[in-house]
Amino acid sequence: APGDRALRILVVDPVHAEALARLRAEHEVVVRLQPSTAELCSLIEDIDVLVARSGVLITEEVLDAGNRLQLIVRAGVGTDNVDLDAARSAGVHVCNVPGASANAVAELAIGLLLAVTRGIVRGDGQVRQGVWNKSDFEGTELRGRTLGLVGLGNIGTRLAEIGRGFGMRVVGNVSSPDPVRREKWAEHGVDLLSLPDLLATSDVVSLQTPLTELTHGLIGYSELAAMKSSAVLINVSRAGVVLDDELFAALRDGRIAGAGLDVLATESGLGRFAELDNVVLTPHIGAMTEDTQRRIGQAVTDAVSAHLRGEQVENR
Ligand code: MLT
Repeated sequence: APGDRALRILVVDPVHAEALARLRAEHEVVVRLQPSTAELCSLIEDIDVLVARSGVLITEEVLDAGNRLQLIVRAGVGTDNVDLDAARSAGVHVCNVPGASANAVAELAIGLLLAVTRGIVRGDGQVRQGVWNKSDFEGTELRGRTLGLVGLGNIGTRLAEIGRGFGMRVVGNVSSPDPVRREKWAEHGVDLLSLPDLLATSDVVSLQTPLTELTHGLIGYSELAAMKSSAVLINVSRAGVVLDDELFAALRDGRIAGAGLDVLATESGLGRFAELDNVVLTPHIGAMTEDTQRRIGQAVTDAVSAHLRGEQVENR
């Protein structure tokens, strides 16, 4: 049980340097980035608190090995890499840091969108090769077009605001409408639609939903077929929300116009999406801004302090 003694903390993904320094000032901190499951199982044996992001799987095996483990701090939003059921039965509390990265992720989604609709990455590549071919670049504008938001949490709500700023019509789909947020959506003029209606009417479909049993494979062949052939798909959530093979085929065959993907099933591997001209890829950097990482770092140290005081940090 938490007392006033220092904790043994294991950090397995990069967290802000200031947060690390604060943790180190009071606790014993072991940093081992991206360990294998076997390494993690042996490291975790005498650990009280695990700090992780999305890069490491925290399986039942890991939780079983963590004899003293009391708390997992997810230094980010998605908890899909943590076996939450196993954590619950092991009596390990899991907390995350929702909201802190919402603006950064929303801004990246717009960056990916503009990169796709205006051919920014392709253009940059050509200019660097000494090719100057304006006629290759007939883009489309966002103003007057429809932005379809799948997931209207912190990121989706911010995207709605930005989308309105671009002069877009904004529609959204959400599995369980949060009454508190309804007002905010209404403020940003978001019309709630069923998923099929959203897919059929949107020029841009942006995914920012957590990966859960409900959203796993949410966008597959028939959903992609329901989209306009001129539509662009943006995924800043998790690769698992979309069926990879089906998205690849839809993009290759021009059944949708393009995609901006910050998440890939093959994280760290190149993958075949790189073969396609109508796709812009980033290496899961939605939350990677100085502002956001500093905020998350603060929340991580706050969560550890609260835990030490015997308080339970709110989860999501
Ligand atoms: C998140 O869920 O917060 C993001 O995937 C970012 C991360 O953890 O690196």
